[in-house]
Amino acid sequence: MRGHEWRIPAASVAAQFHTKCARISEPVGHCHNGAVLPKSHLPTPALLLDLDLFETNLARMMARVQASGKQLRPHFKAHKCVEIARRQLAAGACGICAATVPEAELLAAAGIGGLLLTSPLADPPKMARAVATGAMVVVDHRQQVDWYSQVAVDAGRTVGVLVDLDVGDHRTGARSTAQALEIAQAIDVASGLELRGLQGYSVLGSHAGGFAQRQQVSQAAFAGVAETRAALAQAGLAAPIVTGGSTGTWEIDLALPEVTEIQAGSFVLMDLAYAREGLDFAHALTVMATVISANHEAFVTLDAGFKAFSTDRGYGPEPVGRTGFKYRWGGDEFGYLDRPAEAAALNLGERVEFIPPHCDPTVNLYDRIYACRGDVVEATWPVMQRWSAAG
Ligand SMILES: Cc1ncc(COP(=O)(O)O)c(C=O)c1O
Repeated sequence: MRGHEWRIPAASVAAQFHTKCARISEPVGHCHNGAVLPKSHLPTPALLLDLDLFETNLARMMARVQASGKQLRPHFKAHKCVEIARRQLAAGACGICAATVPEAELLAAAGIGGLLLTSPLADPPKMARAVATGAMVVVDHRQQVDWYSQVAVDAGRTVGVLVDLDVGDHRTGARSTAQALEIAQAIDVASGLELRGLQGYSVLGSHAGGFAQRQQVSQAAFAGVAETRAALAQAGLAAPIVTGGSTGTWEIDLALPEVTEIQAGSFVLMDLAYAREGLDFAHALTVMATVISANHEAFVTLDAGFKAFSTDRGYGPEPVGRTGFKYRWGGDEFGYLDRPAEAAALNLGERVEFIPPHCDPTVNLYDRIYACRGDVVEATWPVMQRWSAAG
């Protein structure tokens, strides 16, 4: 330790602040004692949403959607935050997509309508819960039609149903127009169900690479959907909704005549994965970390590791506004930040914000989003709880 130069911040402001402001999770950026809560005083790792950038992303998307004459039903799975969903509806979204039944239940309990559950289910008790939310649902097999019909009749409800199509991912979806037609005909005659349309979501299209590759995949995907829709029409079955698309294909899909609505979700937050493909929504979502060890010349250690960022992309997060600095994974609770030779060393206690590699699984690691305007925390929004009585 001898000869080491400690670089401790002037005072532990954050500690003082927390002592004064115990109720840090209250929904405004002011403590009960009237002090403004600066984001640099938050306990880290913390998930931050830059409200100015979030609003810019949402307004940009809505303007383009409205100009196209189509609809936006943004996906909840990206942010899992009811307050964000509310703001999307207030901006003009026609509803919200949910990936899971608990997501749909949370949204329904919050009074959010226009729900579409985008994942097929194969569990009648869970299907009954989906039906109870009032959401439209998707099916990709004849058997699911019977199950949904039974639970809809039992609940005394009419459920809107879309046929989910496999447009190339081979993840879910009917494999052919003939299978889709068979399913649609079954929906048409089933009690308690109403055929509402077709879903053709393409993971491949979302992340196919540059604009030209994404366009090629998405155009091919929706050409298949259009073909199926025409076959249904020939059989006298209307499919008024054609839904799918993502942040990766938003502009592409808004130009396709067969698409009636898009399901883009990540665009309001934006992550590194989409930036690397050339998408230029603003990075509204960041994770703030603290330098917790600064004993080396070339790097510091941060309090943000595998439990603070998504790890599914093969690369780490990127520090905001620190050109040449590079993040390295350091374990469950730790990360390293390497500095370029020309940059000044970071101090112990210093905060660094990072753009996460992938927004959905990053948000999923947190229980709250700090909504910030500039440097001030304006609100604290809950992220959907993992635990629920129903499972
Ligand atoms: C069915 C479905 N629709 C829409 C989306 C939204 O995609 P993104 O968040 O990439 O915009 C997803 C994302 O995985 C999805 O699974």
